[in-house]
Amino acid sequence: MGIDYFEKVWHNGEFIPWDKATLHVGSHVISYASSIFEGIRCYETKNGPAIFRLKEHTDRLFNSCRVFRMEPPYPHRQIFDAMTELVRVNEAASCYIRPVVLRGYGELNVNPLKNPIDTYIFCWKWGQYMGHGSVEEGVDVCVSSWRRMAPDTLPAMSKNAANYMNSQLIKVEAIANGYAEGIALDSAGYVSEASGANLFLVRNGEILTPPLASAVLPGITRDTIMTIAQDLGYIVKEQVIAREALYMAEEVFFTGTAAELTPIRSIDRIPVGSGKPGPVARKLQEAFFAIVHGRAEDRYGWLTYCNQPVAAPVAAAR
Ligand SMILES: Cc1ncc(COP(=O)(O)O)c(C=O)c1O
Repeated sequence: MGIDYFEKVWHNGEFIPWDKATLHVGSHVISYASSIFEGIRCYETKNGPAIFRLKEHTDRLFNSCRVFRMEPPYPHRQIFDAMTELVRVNEAASCYIRPVVLRGYGELNVNPLKNPIDTYIFCWKWGQYMGHGSVEEGVDVCVSSWRRMAPDTLPAMSKNAANYMNSQLIKVEAIANGYAEGIALDSAGYVSEASGANLFLVRNGEILTPPLASAVLPGITRDTIMTIAQDLGYIVKEQVIAREALYMAEEVFFTGTAAELTPIRSIDRIPVGSGKPGPVARKLQEAFFAIVHGRAEDRYGWLTYCNQPVAAPVAAAR
């Protein structure tokens, strides 16, 4: 139990101790879920800690905030640098980094506009998301009775706290029924994603994943795996996926910063393929872990080494 945290927390431009990084219960975020966040992994490499796809995570944070008209009052570059600095000041060899932009203490009213925007970045040690051994052995999952958000309700492409109340319905139902995770359908009944990870199928040797319009978060690991798979010569397609295709697939796996690449052994107690992690998942895992740990060439400039000066990232056009 508990968070294996690192002591220093970035708050509005300053480092503060973990124990001081607290909020008043009257803060807007507590009642109204007004929070936008990211989840980023920093991996241990032979050249020190390296943050994986920091620019893309920073871009997504700002984009998620724009939807809610609550961008942090700091430039993209400052938030980017704060993350490498956080790893350095905490002397972390590896960690999971959580930037959070929230509406703080001021007024209590659905209208958030008079509340201050507070930005925190903290980090902790996080192992395998779906339990020890899940990345190697795979997990048993179900199709959830809960759907992802309809497109005109909550914005799936924005990583905001309110979406995670839907995620909690999916996750808790799955756990209560003895599964590691739930796969949710979208409001039209097509396959969407899990409570905290994107989903891929292998069918007839091709790699398929639902399109962003199926209420999925534009996962940075999803994009990474699509890129690696294409480089390895696989055909990768974003396409609408019917539920029954899950039971006909040769392989199914999750991707995510926390989940990394977690194979699925069974869905609703029906074995996926042989009921063991398949060869495509294995091959992609191997290529993925070689890149994140700096063992393979960083062809796309995905690693930001924290102990070295970094060139200015190109911020998303806005
Ligand atoms: C709902 C949801 N979908 C997908 C993902 C995977 O996204 P990423 O690969 O950017 O971590 C996450 C994790 O952040 C998530 O919470």
